[in-house]
Amino acid sequence: MATQRRSTAPHSGEPSNFELDIRAGLSTREKSIPCQYFYDAAGSALFEQITELPEYYPARTEVAILNSCAGDIAARTREGAVLVEFGSGSSVKTGILLAACPMIGRYVPIDVSDTALAGAKVRLEALFPQLKVEPVFADFSAGVELPLDVRSLPKLGFFPGSTIGNFSHEAAVRLLSGFRKLLGSGSRLIVGADLRKSPELLIPAYNDAAGVTAAFNLNLLVRVNRELGANFDVSKFEHLATYTALTGRIDMYLVSKSAQTAMIGGQEFQFANGERIHTEISQKYDIAEMQGLAERAGWISRAVWTDAANLFSVHEFDCG
Ligand code: TRP
Repeated sequence: MATQRRSTAPHSGEPSNFELDIRAGLSTREKSIPCQYFYDAAGSALFEQITELPEYYPARTEVAILNSCAGDIAARTREGAVLVEFGSGSSVKTGILLAACPMIGRYVPIDVSDTALAGAKVRLEALFPQLKVEPVFADFSAGVELPLDVRSLPKLGFFPGSTIGNFSHEAAVRLLSGFRKLLGSGSRLIVGADLRKSPELLIPAYNDAAGVTAAFNLNLLVRVNRELGANFDVSKFEHLATYTALTGRIDMYLVSKSAQTAMIGGQEFQFANGERIHTEISQKYDIAEMQGLAERAGWISRAVWTDAANLFSVHEFDCG
């Protein structure tokens, strides 16, 4: 069923997009919840904790790569450029690029977390007095518009965190070609992509010993209970991460620990013992795979950087 796009209207009796998406996702034979709903205030805070976990190598590895390639990126960045970040979260990695690129005058973070956007604006404008931050509160995958006053400026897109891996191949191509259209001719794009590697390293990154990733995944149900008045027994679901080496894909699920039902606004949803709700994919890409994907979206590979252990990659693309 195609989800109708309605704005949230809490008192009109109309269901919000969140409610429509949740009901639709839990009404199909293979249940799923769209991954943008992870990032309420609690989920965004839990994700920040994930990035600091010893098992979660992508965040610190990408930071190290960005520290070493930021000078190269700066050398190709034009005076007065605008940095546009897709899914900016806390904007921690952005600070590395901004510190190396004093010629960047504007920063447009795009995110579904208004608390994260507000925090990033205060922090970055204090750190970089020449910088104007213009947050866009939106789902970057749903089609966004840039603020009018930055549209004529040279653009540098930034899409770190291997968020590209959270989309199927086809959706990733659509997304990257959408970025190409939004940023326009002459623009460049920096993409962070997690590399294929052994499951011994991959699985713990998505199922940490301290249980933070499990709490992050389960927070989806906490949010559904709070915002939609549902009655999920969160203790009767558990976090599962699987890796398929052939495809290079991590999948995350919430698994029902017993046969049970939950009510969402008068509608009953049934879960068999062991039934899974799919909540996220995290696709891993070899360098050539990522370049091929970007080329299909109209981008030309300009440079690629990795760490010494070949855990993670940072790509630079331009319009040729
Ligand atoms: N983009 C991150 C990644 O794929 C997002 C992420 C990390 C994530 N851990 C997660 C998403 C756990 C859902 C559940 O690495």
